[in-house]
Amino acid sequence: MAVKPKHIAVLTSGGDAPGMNAAIRSVVRSCSHFNIKCSGVYRGYQGLIEGDIRTLDARSVNNIINKGGTKLKSARSLDFHEKEGRAKASENLKNLDIDALIVIGGDGSFTGGMIFEREHKIPVIGIPGTIDNDIFGTSHTIGYDTALNTVVEAIDKIRDTAISHNRLFFVEVMGRDAGHIALNVGIGAGAEEILIPEENLGLNRLLESLRRSKKSGKSSSIVVVAEGDKIGKNVFELAQHIEQNLPDYEVRVSVLGHIQRGGTPSCFDRVLASRMGLKAVESLIDGVSAHMVGIQNGEMILTPLNKAIKGKSEIKRELIRVSDIMTL
Ligand code: F6P
Repeated sequence: MAVKPKHIAVLTSGGDAPGMNAAIRSVVRSCSHFNIKCSGVYRGYQGLIEGDIRTLDARSVNNIINKGGTKLKSARSLDFHEKEGRAKASENLKNLDIDALIVIGGDGSFTGGMIFEREHKIPVIGIPGTIDNDIFGTSHTIGYDTALNTVVEAIDKIRDTAISHNRLFFVEVMGRDAGHIALNVGIGAGAEEILIPEENLGLNRLLESLRRSKKSGKSSSIVVVAEGDKIGKNVFELAQHIEQNLPDYEVRVSVLGHIQRGGTPSCFDRVLASRMGLKAVESLIDGVSAHMVGIQNGEMILTPLNKAIKGKSEIKRELIRVSDIMTL
């Protein structure tokens, strides 16, 4: 029979994402509901090593559901890559009688959590929080929906000035090695071309497509470029290449950067985070460990952490076709 945890710690790790606060709130309040003590670890795994751990109760998480960023702060800890660092972290948890850990983050954070669980036998549950949506075992990560909306809004604004000056804009968006953000915002913002790592369009096809676009009467254009695109040139070199080969175009580059990670979480992300936090606590109560909570077809599911880390979150090929036809 599963032994109900007595004291759960929660931390956020890796790049922050809108909705992480809603997930922390959900974990804390779910613990309260089940009469489990809860503590927050500040600055991710680094705080775990340094013992930066404080008790949280239902009132500690008032008024954070609508806030971007993470109340617990986040960090990428190099010390946690070392055995000694993880041993120190385990000692800190034991000293506080913490018997389970919930990690909100991306695949790097889950890798750390999985190794920690194996070495120190502390049950770990992951909640996927990253704007990149690049995690296997969930159709949506916390923060992805908000980031899509932020980026579409930014591109809409860029389009206004692009039209006024008859310019071609290259807009670089985040996503690490995945093209989910680029592909979706590209369609949502009506981009003429979308460059993603999963699909190598090639420079010649891009030139051809922009030539066609000009001929068809378009006076301004937006090309969305995923930061991990493999076309072989960075966004500035790409812009230069197009200007040299298509002198009719006046080209500008806009790298959206970290504005994509901030801001008020969307309702979708708040609800998703609330569901995932509860599911994570319930899973620990059921004796589950080394799994990640996810959403698939609208339902909460669990995926072993090793699968979540190794599996690939594929882009929807259908979206490429939609984009191709919409840009005629
Ligand atoms: O994983 C989230 C993310 O924002 C990626 O899209 C981006 O490549 C990376 O983090 C940026 O990391 P940092 O904030 O450490 O520069």
